[in-house]
Amino acid sequence: MTWCARKVATSRLAGAFVLLLAFAGSASAQSGDAGRGEYIFAAGGCAGCHTDTKNNGQLLAGGRELKTPFGSFYGPNITAHPTAGIGTWSDADFIRAVRQGRRPDGAHYFPVFPYTSFTKISDADLVDLKTYIFSLPTSDRPNRPHDIGFPFNLRALQFGWKLLHFTPGAFRPDPSKSAQVNRGAYLTEALGHCAECHSPRNPLGGLDTAMLFAGDRNPPGGGRVPNITPDAETGIGKWSDGDLEDLLGSGMTPDGDSVGGEMGEVVAKSTSKLTPEDRKAMIAYLRQLKPIQNRVRGGGS
Ligand code: HEC
Ligand code: HEC
Repeated sequence: MTWCARKVATSRLAGAFVLLLAFAGSASAQSGDAGRGEYIFAAGGCAGCHTDTKNNGQLLAGGRELKTPFGSFYGPNITAHPTAGIGTWSDADFIRAVRQGRRPDGAHYFPVFPYTSFTKISDADLVDLKTYIFSLPTSDRPNRPHDIGFPFNLRALQFGWKLLHFTPGAFRPDPSKSAQVNRGAYLTEALGHCAECHSPRNPLGGLDTAMLFAGDRNPPGGGRVPNITPDAETGIGKWSDGDLEDLLGSGMTPDGDSVGGEMGEVVAKSTSKLTPEDRKAMIAYLRQLKPIQNRVRGGGS
């Protein structure tokens, strides 16, 4: 090879290398599978808190009010808009936010963002989820500041809260349980974050871990959140699998009513969009929970 030919070959090689890098770069910006991500998105119920449905807000553009005993939080814009949303975030930024409750600058999120459950979502699922979110239309809607009182408004204090109430870490399948129950556990504990509403909280807003899924008498939105452990008297012990399938699949209750409010939204945006196998897995998981007696419903019903 002449010197000149070699130079051309090297520069071709360099060009190919640059192309390869550029390709790798764009591939890592959207390295997941958007189709799978759409399913994770439904299973995770991300639309609810991040969409101001009441005022016809754009999907994920934020502004949804979330009432808590500490004040009102507003779900932020999580569209891929570069300044108003999370458009400049890397996969690692996204994974750290959802699984560790940390902002890209290191600040702590408030636990109204249920990272306490989402910490169990796998990185692979989150990469697919981010790819799906980044495929949606963006919005320049500015975030609305949370309306919470001192000292709960201090982000730095969230560090202490996390020490007390947050156990970070991946979902660990229980080898003594069937594959179906483990799938149900992942869907219920990690993605569906069902315990976040269906468990009582202590005065600092931490989940009462001895009472997971046993219902909540005083949920922030008012009303009562039922006990969904298999206790026959106060939980779902007397519900058939068909009853539970109807509820999660279409919102129909055993007495022919339909669930409204917060659970109505969970059914519409999340559980009704799952495959029947995944709903069955959730039901199998709920069935094998320890029954906890906890009456949260008034009027004996
Ligand atoms: C129960 C309500 C709720 C649900 C469900 C929820 N989020 Fe959020 N999310 C919030 C709130 C509130 C914040 C802001 C927390 C803060 O300011 O400390 C937030 C923050 C975020 C942020 C950080 C945004 C930023 O600008 O820093 C991301 C990313 C995010 N959520 C993604 C998701 C994804 C993905 C899902 C579904 C798997 C999801 N959220 C489900 C309430 C929720
Ligand atoms: C945002 C809060 C919230 C979340 C998240 C939530 N639920 Fe519910 N759930 C409720 C409320 C409130 C009711 C009562 C609805 C009613 O009576 O109209 C309810 C009712 C139910 C019922 C009927 C029980 C009964 O005795 O009537 C079942 C079963 C149930 N939820 C399962 C689930 C599962 C499984 C998940 C996770 C995918 C989940 N819920 C997530 C708030 C929530």
